[in-house]
Amino acid sequence: MYKAQYLLLFCLFFCFKISAQQETRTIINFNKDWKFYLGDEPKAKDQLYHDESWRKLNLPHDWSIEGQFAENHLATSQGGALPTGIGWYRKKFKVSQSFKNKISYVEFDGVYRNAEVWINGHYLGKRPYGYSSFRYEISKYLKYSNEENQLVVRVDNSEQPNSRWYTGSGIYRNVRLVHTSNLAIDHWGTFISTPKVTNQEATVKVETTVKNTTQNSQKIRLVSSIIDASGKEITSTSQEYVVKDSSATFQQNIVLQNPTLWNIKKPYLYKIVSKIYVQNRQLDSYETPLGIRFFDFQSATGFSLNGVPTKILGVCNHHDLGALGAAINVRAMERQLEILKEMGCNGIRISHNPPAPELLDLCDKMGFIVMDEAFDMWKKRKNKKDYAQNWDDWHKKDLEDMVKRDRNHPSIFVWSIGNEIREQFDSTGTTIAKELSAIVKTLDKTRPVTSALTETNPDKNFIFKSGALDVLGFNYKHEGYADLLKNFPNQKFIATETASALETRGRYDLPKDSVVFMPKDGKSKLTNGNADFTVSAFDNVAAYWGTTHEISWNAVKKYPHIAGLYVWSGFDYLGEPHPYPYPARSSYYGIIDLAGFPKDVYYMYQSEWTSKPVLHILPHWNWSVGQTVDVWAYFNQADEVELFLNDKSLGIRKKENDNIHVSWKVKYESGVLKAISRKNGKTVLTKQIQTAGKATKINLSVDRPILKANGEDLAFVKVSVTDENGNIVPNAGHLINFNVSGVGELVGVDNGYQASLEPFKTNYRKAYNGLCLAIIQTKETAGKIILKATSEGLESNEIVMESLVE
Ligand code: GAL
Repeated sequence: MYKAQYLLLFCLFFCFKISAQQETRTIINFNKDWKFYLGDEPKAKDQLYHDESWRKLNLPHDWSIEGQFAENHLATSQGGALPTGIGWYRKKFKVSQSFKNKISYVEFDGVYRNAEVWINGHYLGKRPYGYSSFRYEISKYLKYSNEENQLVVRVDNSEQPNSRWYTGSGIYRNVRLVHTSNLAIDHWGTFISTPKVTNQEATVKVETTVKNTTQNSQKIRLVSSIIDASGKEITSTSQEYVVKDSSATFQQNIVLQNPTLWNIKKPYLYKIVSKIYVQNRQLDSYETPLGIRFFDFQSATGFSLNGVPTKILGVCNHHDLGALGAAINVRAMERQLEILKEMGCNGIRISHNPPAPELLDLCDKMGFIVMDEAFDMWKKRKNKKDYAQNWDDWHKKDLEDMVKRDRNHPSIFVWSIGNEIREQFDSTGTTIAKELSAIVKTLDKTRPVTSALTETNPDKNFIFKSGALDVLGFNYKHEGYADLLKNFPNQKFIATETASALETRGRYDLPKDSVVFMPKDGKSKLTNGNADFTVSAFDNVAAYWGTTHEISWNAVKKYPHIAGLYVWSGFDYLGEPHPYPYPARSSYYGIIDLAGFPKDVYYMYQSEWTSKPVLHILPHWNWSVGQTVDVWAYFNQADEVELFLNDKSLGIRKKENDNIHVSWKVKYESGVLKAISRKNGKTVLTKQIQTAGKATKINLSVDRPILKANGEDLAFVKVSVTDENGNIVPNAGHLINFNVSGVGELVGVDNGYQASLEPFKTNYRKAYNGLCLAIIQTKETAGKIILKATSEGLESNEIVMESLVE
């Protein structure tokens, strides 16, 4: 009995001692329980302002996506035709007494735009650029224990137009409260690089900046450990240093034997855990991802990763997540990347602004070659009220912060200092390019700097002439690829944008023999568009500055000196609905539509970029009897495709010359259109489509039936309108009504139609060309989620999902 009590006391004492020695930073998710007011309310910055009547919400939040489309919205249809304006956010919170001696910060990953922040009535500052991450120290204003603190944020996105695409409005990325000790690793305070890597050995260089707010010189021990993917510590290094001033940077080198390299197929991730001790008392612990890889851009031969020549097969994406708007959601971003990976895509160009940090985490984990880009304009504006007006005051800070924040992501291989910058055409381009490149190089010499250029004449391109670019990025103008090495001797090249082809999913205009540019001559008004603001999905239509996917990919494929490409664009995005005016309000450039449904050209890339067998035929098979229909097939891993209509052969086709697709002209009759791909006479794949009958049913399928009950996870439910036999009815446009019961909530609906004016945040959606999408978010309670879909004249249907506590 006595023995047991002693043991307990000893344990308590020992545990207390350990925990007293093990301090670390506290990171608190600060997304919940905010109050929001749409409109300007300057008094709201006062601590005692009454916000009882304000709307309650959780972040991330984008108020624009909740609105209705309208032609007169100031962002214009280029910006997505949704409302913008001014909004206020307020959050009350308490801080335990135990944090009283800590240094406290509030961290914002991104607020669009002009964020002004107050804590307990004290003004902390303003951040104009809507894509930058920033933090404020708030310790000296905090109240502790039972006293309430009041954080207030004013967001001003009222000056319009300020973007060429949809931006969203509000605190659309994560917010955190962070408490550290007064001797801690600084904000973005580590920089990990791998100066020497072979398969046998890697030298890992760890630079750590320690922030000292004690007013005194401090003697510390800094321990940096490498942890492998299973969580096991592999090796570590430990040194003593003196931090004399308010901050100091220390360098440690760790040699790792037999490293597992990061690559796009197996993106192996280690992490570095950095700990600071003072007299054996741990004051901080900080984690940084580590991917070990080496790479190279060469003038004549392009890109190689870990010594393996690798073509970068990438896409450009903007940041909106379709029906969810700009409000970030990790699952929604992961789904986009999964769809792209499945296509064989291995790269992402983040266009044209710093991304959500979670997107980079996903790229690290999933294996993408990322181009991280800072700006769409410098001092010369592209829109009346855009970031050019903040350029002088902010560009240095914004660029530095992007590089500091992102430089530890192994997925980033290139920094881009700007997209189609207007200064490339005059001498100011030289000065600014030099300045920006120097800013990047001061913070990171391990990656090349590029910029996406449009001026291909070397004598006229002042950004090129600056000598500040390590890799030249070119947008479009594939006709010039052959001469790049001649015109730009010894330079390295990447196609920063290709294609800008236009398509509406499921829309097919016949006949389709030639390439169409919109507007036709590149200058006059659009005369060759469709009355319903659609564009045919045969890969035959492009913006006049671009070309089809097939032509542009062929051009990149042909030249080893082009390190790779980033197709414009992976997904359709809100805004920039070229070539149409309102009511068109989202783009036509995506390989995948806004709802995440692949267009046909997805399979062209898949057949070229993956080695898994692909056979895809288009269009659908519901036409008028006797009509001549162009039938196309994309395929790989086979020599030929034979097409059959109702079991009658329509002939065998083989790819000829540079063609990536094969085609037939078929006199339509209803029935079964079947394609068989063969290699050496043996069937590789069979694909058939069938004439659909009358629409009678709703089919529901979900991307993941088991979800996480964390209040964030999402289920993407694909809704198809089918006939009796389950064939999708190609032009079905039924209005589908949704009802969600159980522990989930409907958070968005879409159908990918670029000119739909239905809102995204509602419980109904018309199918478009047979399909629509419902997005359901879990709650923090486990249980079943049931989505019921009904529509007049169709048999209703439901699907059950399970939400589980992790
Ligand atoms: C490019 C531009 C992109 C996008 C694209 C559309 O010139 O860099 O941001 O606007 O055109 O074709």
